[in-house]
Amino acid sequence: MSARPRAFLTTPIYYASGEPHIGHAYTTILTDVMARFARQDGHDVLFLTGTDEHGPKIEQEAASRGMSPQELCDTMAARFSAAWTRLSIGHDRFIRTTEDEHKAVVTAFLQRLWDREQIYSGSYSGWYCIHEERYWTEKDLGPDETCPDCGRPVTHLEETNYFFRMSDYQERLVRQIEENPDWIVPEVRRNEILGFLRQPLGDLSISRPKSRVSWGIELPFDGEHVAYVWVDALINYLTASGAIDPSQPPDAQGFDDVSGSWWPADMHVMGKDILTTHAVYWPTLLMAVGLPVPRRILAHGWWVVGETKMSKSLGNVVDPLQLREEFGTDAVRWYLTREMPTGGDASYTPERFLTRYDELANVFGNLASRATSMIVKYREGAVPDVEGAGLATAIESTLDAVRDSLSRYRVHEALGAAMDLARTANGYVEDQAPWTVAKDPARSEELDETLATLARVLVVLTALFKPVTPEAAELLAQRLGLEEVPTIRGSLEISLAGRNVEKGQPLFPRIDLG
Ligand code: MSP
Repeated sequence: MSARPRAFLTTPIYYASGEPHIGHAYTTILTDVMARFARQDGHDVLFLTGTDEHGPKIEQEAASRGMSPQELCDTMAARFSAAWTRLSIGHDRFIRTTEDEHKAVVTAFLQRLWDREQIYSGSYSGWYCIHEERYWTEKDLGPDETCPDCGRPVTHLEETNYFFRMSDYQERLVRQIEENPDWIVPEVRRNEILGFLRQPLGDLSISRPKSRVSWGIELPFDGEHVAYVWVDALINYLTASGAIDPSQPPDAQGFDDVSGSWWPADMHVMGKDILTTHAVYWPTLLMAVGLPVPRRILAHGWWVVGETKMSKSLGNVVDPLQLREEFGTDAVRWYLTREMPTGGDASYTPERFLTRYDELANVFGNLASRATSMIVKYREGAVPDVEGAGLATAIESTLDAVRDSLSRYRVHEALGAAMDLARTANGYVEDQAPWTVAKDPARSEELDETLATLARVLVVLTALFKPVTPEAAELLAQRLGLEEVPTIRGSLEISLAGRNVEKGQPLFPRIDLG
């Protein structure tokens, strides 16, 4: 007997120093849509998100608010968690890096690196951007000693750090990327990392002296230093996988055998801004402790305004929760994942938001409402007991298109294919003109066939729209007399014959733009 296929998907863990914004919401919704598609396709899923709570950035933000770092993290973790609930995110685990379990896994991981002689002590001299929590060399810097990524002033550091022998893994990493063309997607990002790896790869500073940064996880082999926040943060994926049991002696902690856990992750999703940490630091660290690397790394683009990335510091952020207040959760999810080509950039504009909303209301919503109304009007709500094969070919080719797009990580295309099926079904209604057929009792069988076809297509649409618009999909399933939204395969097998269908309020109310 074969076990159900499994999928472990992750988002980055977001810094607990700022409010959730549209960029965080996009990553999380995109991953949620993929996680829900995997569930709709019969997988057991572990979907992980959480907050990144250590390091100088958090320490400084807490100080500026007159709070302790832990108080700030507690407040912000609750904020992220509440935002995800409001945006219908169905994560299975919300990890916080200040959890004891995580701290113990980081400690075990660092000890393992140390025992395997992957770490040495050295002196660091260079520049650091606290906002991005990353090092820069002199030649990287922008004008007037600023961070080339965010433009903020950088700090010059000269201190003793522990270094991870990342350079030893350069060849192995290049081989991993070359032998697995789909390991980093999309291709433009893969090429970017390969380009980066054409230069000699340096070693990675993985610690901070406590005298400068105290808010972090102590190194097990030197209590005067804490772990570099990125190393601490990346390990969250491993903690949540359940692969490592730090309470065991070193040789029995699970580093040599991950079976029975969720490791390796099936897919790490993140923005292109933090691809290097995920595609270079993380896999080399895993190689160094002897663990398998993640199966896939998907970097998406940025929500931009004009030419610049949307960011809090630039004051150009759109608040996803505000949009939700106005248009509802499903509309925000639909807009973000349908509008942005997965992997590319997109520009937020209120006009595009409304165009996408209109598509939900006037294509999907309209089909649902006219089909259920007609079944109620012409057949007192009972779906006729006939085959309803009118759109069989369209359904089949839609499912192929959805499957194909998802296998290429083109989520926006998969969603477009689902919407196209609703569009085709609306065209079918126009062609069949049931309102005319209904007037002629001799054409009753024809009407039955049309109504049964529409009921069938609605069932398939509940399954296809559940990943992106879960509220509407569930509401529609209820109106069709189903206990729950079926899986995609299940939706093809369900017969609604004789079930009682209800009509109701529009799935997506008309927005008064006045
Ligand atoms: N804490 C680190 C991640 C550690 S993961 C082991 C971090 N956090 S963050 O709060 O800055 O979130 C970064 C992520 O937010 C990006 O990778 C991206 O997923 C998302 N976005 C932030 N701004 C964005 C846009 N303007 N557009 C799209 N997504 C962007 O980095």
